[in-house]
Amino acid sequence: MNWKPIFKPREKTRQGAQQQREKTPEAFWLNQVIVRPVIDADLHRMEWDGEYAHFRRVYAEAYQRMQRGYTVLWVADLPGTGLVGQVFIQLVCDRPELADGSERAYLYSFRVRSQLRGQGLGTLIMDVVEDDLRQRAFQYVTLNVARDNPRAQQLYLRRGYRVIAPEPGIWSYPDENGIWHQVEEPAWRMEKVL
Ligand SMILES: CC(C)(COP(=O)(O)OP(=O)(O)OC[C@H]1O[C@@H](n2cnc3c(N)ncnc32)[C@H](O)[C@@H]1OP(=O)(O)O)[C@@H](O)C(=O)NCCC(=O)NCCS
Repeated sequence: MNWKPIFKPREKTRQGAQQQREKTPEAFWLNQVIVRPVIDADLHRMEWDGEYAHFRRVYAEAYQRMQRGYTVLWVADLPGTGLVGQVFIQLVCDRPELADGSERAYLYSFRVRSQLRGQGLGTLIMDVVEDDLRQRAFQYVTLNVARDNPRAQQLYLRRGYRVIAPEPGIWSYPDENGIWHQVEEPAWRMEKVL
């Protein structure tokens, strides 16, 4: 399936997108996006037409954790187009400084379709997941951001996240064929008080 936005963004800049959103709210694509937890049928769609096929097993495992209540997988769904963004939240994991099941939750695997970035979808997704965590009585959100990703760092800083520790960012995953890959992505751990 070829992915195309049904509402082609006319403005690339955030300010332009904001104006467009206010002038023609019913037509602006962002106003039609639904941010919701993942369902079974989303799993293959989350591969984004093959771009993330290598994470098939990672997604399947995360989905199983969601069914046990340990994780929440969120997707941004644009009706008529498909999935345009996602973020995963660990409510509990084996590193309590990241997620401890009651106070601290860990945000990861956050991405927006490249054609639609810089227009507010990432902000919308974060608003939804932070509100959900407040309702679950969590007090902190943690995340790791690559040291060479200053744009994402800016987004988090603007939202009140602060750098609290360096992270080596070394992790491994099995791809869709079961072959293991090691990723090394030095990062900053950031945290926000909800
Ligand atoms: C980070 C990301 C999810 C943000 O989503 P988004 O829809 O672009 O976010 P918004 O439009 O709400 O906010 C964009 C802001 O985030 C920052 N940003 C981060 N990456 C950006 C990108 N590739 N393009 C535009 N803005 C980006 C900018 O500071 C921008 O602020 P501004 O528009 O006010 O100047 C998205 O850019 C993305 O998928 N990037 C690649 C994957 C990634 O880096 N994920 C984060 C891992 S920690």
